[in-house]
Amino acid sequence: MRNTQGIGGNNRLEHGLATTRNADGRHADSGCGSPQGIRLILDLNSDGLQEYLSSVVDDFNPAASTDLGIRGYADKLTRLGRTIAAVSDSPDTRRIAGILAGYFNSPEQGFSYVSAFHVRRPFRRMHIGRMLMDKAMEISRAAGFRSLRLKVDKSNDAGISFYEWYGFTKIGENAKQFEMDFNLIGNLNDGM
Ligand SMILES: CC(C)(COP(=O)(O)OP(=O)(O)OC[C@H]1O[C@@H](n2cnc3c(N)ncnc32)[C@H](O)[C@@H]1OP(=O)(O)O)[C@@H](O)C(=O)NCCC(=O)NCCS
Repeated sequence: MRNTQGIGGNNRLEHGLATTRNADGRHADSGCGSPQGIRLILDLNSDGLQEYLSSVVDDFNPAASTDLGIRGYADKLTRLGRTIAAVSDSPDTRRIAGILAGYFNSPEQGFSYVSAFHVRRPFRRMHIGRMLMDKAMEISRAAGFRSLRLKVDKSNDAGISFYEWYGFTKIGENAKQFEMDFNLIGNLNDGM
């Protein structure tokens, strides 16, 4: 598979924003400091995950699992994977601000896999996505994975921008999606 890093054309530098990257290309400030009033909880139950996904279904579609339906998808993820939820302490907002759900159960295959990643619109651009991803990296590294992978629709500019900003590289593509990879070996600055 060819390395397509750089395609997507929507990163911080191109927007003229200041940024600092490490020698490995990863942004240098990841994981340092957390969005105010947001804390992480691990392993939502199936009802909690289903409730969240149902409430954002018009905004986000867990594409890989539409055939299962939201109930089946939430059941599968709860059974085989893990869900990280960002919870807001603010009483006037919905309790769960965002989620990252994925599979961290087969270190022998070398990579963990993000299946669902979403932050509610009012909470975006507060680095909650970064906080969730940092935790996924921490879990992956502790479990012995060498990298974390995901697929993103080619039309998803926000997703691609986030992943490139975070330090993912494109390792493959089909007509609709890019496959992206974050190499955990040598990237030790997440989860601070
Ligand atoms: C992708 C998503 C999870 C990002 O969540 P977020 O909490 O807003 O992301 P962060 O605040 O941590 O963003 C970190 C950096 O990523 C980049 N980024 C994030 N969203 C961006 C956007 N819409 N446009 C351009 N860059 C963006 C920025 O560089 C940002 O840093 P900055 O705000 O300091 O410039 C969110 O946009 C979302 O839920 N999208 C809909 C669901 C989705 O498409 N998920 C991915 C499926 S593969």
